[in-house]
Amino acid sequence: MRKAVYPGSFDPITNGHLDIVERASLLFDEVTVAVLTNPAKRPLLTLETRVRLIQEATAHLRNIQVDSFSGLLMDYAKRIGARAVVRGIRGVQDFDMEVNMAHMNRQLDEEVTTVFLAAKAEYSYISSSLVKDIAWHGGDMTRFVPDCVVVAVQSAVANH
Ligand code: PNS
Repeated sequence: MRKAVYPGSFDPITNGHLDIVERASLLFDEVTVAVLTNPAKRPLLTLETRVRLIQEATAHLRNIQVDSFSGLLMDYAKRIGARAVVRGIRGVQDFDMEVNMAHMNRQLDEEVTTVFLAAKAEYSYISSSLVKDIAWHGGDMTRFVPDCVVVAVQSAVANH
């Protein structure tokens, strides 16, 4: 059983993230999308909302599970029996940080391997931060996120 974890903040999940989940679902028997519980990051969306949106956006994929975690990613990976961590790379802007994290995580647990997947080129400029910025200014984010995300982000911004 090839099991992977795809960790992130997913505040919110974007079309770029979804592309990575779809690719990972073809490569692994089971993929757990794991949302980090990190109060220090002050997310726009609650943990419950982020998890629900990922569940809705990935409902068409049979081997995807959605969960949340706190603490070290390597401890979580061990707990759920994942031998691979999936991370999406949009371009050079992600590379340094991601490679450093992969090396550090390997120091923490040699048995877990980080696998980098390249998102589709047309998604390379999309980030959760830019999507939120568009939402804060009342712009149209429909091309950048799954449909279910649009309403959730708009209402989170309105109620902020
Ligand atoms: O979507 P993000 O915010 O880029 O995801 C970052 C994430 C969640 C993968 C990273 O912050 C993480 O793994 N946090 C858990 C704590 C941890 O293990 N830190 C050591 C990383 S080397």
